[in-house]
Amino acid sequence: MKKIVILFSGNGSNLENIAKKLHGKVEVAAAITNNPQAYGIQRAKRLGIPIEIIDHREFPSRESFDEVLVQTIKQYNPDLVVMAGFMRILSPIFTKNIKNAINIHPSLLPLFKGAKAIEKSYASDMKVAGVTVHWVNDELDGGKIIDQACFHREDESLEEFAAKIHELEYNLYPRVIANLLDISLQKASLSQEV
Ligand code: GAR
Repeated sequence: MKKIVILFSGNGSNLENIAKKLHGKVEVAAAITNNPQAYGIQRAKRLGIPIEIIDHREFPSRESFDEVLVQTIKQYNPDLVVMAGFMRILSPIFTKNIKNAINIHPSLLPLFKGAKAIEKSYASDMKVAGVTVHWVNDELDGGKIIDQACFHREDESLEEFAAKIHELEYNLYPRVIANLLDISLQKASLSQEV
């Protein structure tokens, strides 16, 4: 079975969604977080996914954190590294060593890069909004786009808008992972449940 490692920093809803939707088709070899308080740790525990906590505050530099992160990822020898709400700017130590990493970003890139993308997208006068899955390279949210999904905006509140964005993420990300790993979606236990 193909192996992925998931990197996250907070809530972990994408982590849980990916693990559930690709259950039995992909092995989530580990979930790695930089945040010991991340709620996603509870989710990963419930799902029986091995967890690695690498607290970035314990490292003197971005590079020294990335070195340990790279070593930890390599121990699992994953076919794909999946970033799901991993809120770290990566140094060249990471990008030179890990070539098979993808990320999901809650905007239609190249618009609204960086933090607070949902808020920036909501505040814009764009009539469509969406999400992007892209390869990770040395430019923040700047790697080659793999796929996107979008919706036409109505008069949503920010909360409704954010919920629509997350719904797109929960549909798109497992499908992209399955495609990249050459796994048949029909056989994957893809349900609409999160
Ligand atoms: C997701 O919306 C993801 O797109 C975003 O963080 C959220 C994580 O939610 N990522 C970024 O903004 C990356 N720049 P989750 O922890 O519940 O999966």
